[in-house]
Amino acid sequence: MSFFPKIAFQYEVEEYLTKVFRNNELIAAFGTQEAENKYQSLLSHLSHPPAFTTVRVNTHLASVKHVKKLLFEEIQKQFKGLRVPVLEHPKLQDILLIPVIGPRRDLKKHASEVIVGAQCGYAVLRGAHVYVPGIVSTSRFVKAGDTVSVYSDIEGKCKRGAKEFDGVKVFLGNGISELSRSEIFSSSGPLKGLGIRMIEPVYLSPSFDNVLPSNLFLQNLPSVVVSHILDPQPGEKILDMCAAPGGKTTHLATLMHDQGEVIAMDKTVNKVKKIKQNAELLQLNCIKAFCYDGTKALSVEKREDKQEGPPFLPESFDRILLDAPCSGMGQRPNMAYSSTLKEVTSYQPLQRKLFTVAVKLLKPGGVLVYSTCTITLSENEEQVAWALKTFPCLQLHPQEPHIGGEGMKGAGLSLDQLKLLQRFDPSAVTLQGMDINSLQDSREDDLISLANKDCIGFFIAKFIKLHSK
Ligand SMILES: C[S@@+](CC[C@H](N)C(=O)[O-])C[C@H]1O[C@@H](n2cnc3c(N)ncnc32)[C@H](O)[C@@H]1O
Repeated sequence: MSFFPKIAFQYEVEEYLTKVFRNNELIAAFGTQEAENKYQSLLSHLSHPPAFTTVRVNTHLASVKHVKKLLFEEIQKQFKGLRVPVLEHPKLQDILLIPVIGPRRDLKKHASEVIVGAQCGYAVLRGAHVYVPGIVSTSRFVKAGDTVSVYSDIEGKCKRGAKEFDGVKVFLGNGISELSRSEIFSSSGPLKGLGIRMIEPVYLSPSFDNVLPSNLFLQNLPSVVVSHILDPQPGEKILDMCAAPGGKTTHLATLMHDQGEVIAMDKTVNKVKKIKQNAELLQLNCIKAFCYDGTKALSVEKREDKQEGPPFLPESFDRILLDAPCSGMGQRPNMAYSSTLKEVTSYQPLQRKLFTVAVKLLKPGGVLVYSTCTITLSENEEQVAWALKTFPCLQLHPQEPHIGGEGMKGAGLSLDQLKLLQRFDPSAVTLQGMDINSLQDSREDDLISLANKDCIGFFIAKFIKLHSK
């Protein structure tokens, strides 16, 4: 079942990826045909949204059962009585899963059209309404209250304010315009706020705008797994090296019952503000956020005793999370990946610099978790092979929970080493649609198994630092 075309890449990126997914180790293990089928299936998955929406409950403020009840009521209200379940996860006790209904192929298309930018379109496919800044063009006579069909300009070719668009556009569903065309493109500056209220999205997911904001954090399933694998303990000193917007930072602080210290670092000032806002919203006081370049976070000189922030002395942290900046190719949905090959290959050296600093900042006996939301070998398994060779003090460690698949072949790691890695590979399951009837007939175990697989592409490695050198 493919509703959207497969994700498109620039030619040189596509060539690069083709080599990655047809590498000799993979072909020797699975054969050319199976390796190719898996790769093609992955490309289809990437252009479609994951099969479930995942929210993490802020267990610092509320119980999962309580939030589950409130969320169920909210979804009933949004979906006008349609009974979509809210599921708990047997291995991740702080998340709730909501199945995504779709694609709905029977929706009527209206003459009035609204074109939105690609990022806005992806948000709509995951349950958002359309906000004014995301609107690129509308038909000539759109008025407030009109029913409109919403399309995504996936290649970014539509001119702002255009009255017609003949380029590649992907239908996202129907909605009601909250504003007229002239209000949307008012010359007195860009309006904020709701532009189109989606009433018939192709993929039906709840909107989380202002829904239980202190009790819930919208987070992809593998991202929640990461903090459990780092397994921070109350009272410990933790470093989250690349932390914004703070999804994992706030999760780490919650798992520590807000006791100890979570140092959250990010290179970008505005993103650090977002970490602080999220910590405040979720009422977590043990988070200290700093704007700093992680590659420079190791101090070579003695520090002031009272200095809280970076740079830090060697062996300062009990556990470190390096959720690295990456090429982001595992994000879903994505129909047209715009980065160049130069950009894609620029991450490996940056990740190695950050990793080297992380190893030095970690106490002997400490835990280092490395993760990315991408699918390449060079940012994942190859980084592990490099780390094990470069830092004899590091040992790969089993992960708990282990919900995704094992590492991918192609970087020269042994089968035992690959088993210790966790790669969430959406192509591990057939791409399928979900309608309300098939949902009612499904067993809960099968739904959970689908949620574990049909998620974003993601990679996790866990290391223990055995000794100083
Ligand atoms: C994958 S995102 C982190 C997501 C975050 N861990 C979460 O769960 O919300 C990577 C982050 O690394 C930051 N970054 C990039 N280069 C960095 C550097 N040299 N030092 C620190 N942060 C950096 C980016 O600004 C971005 O916010």
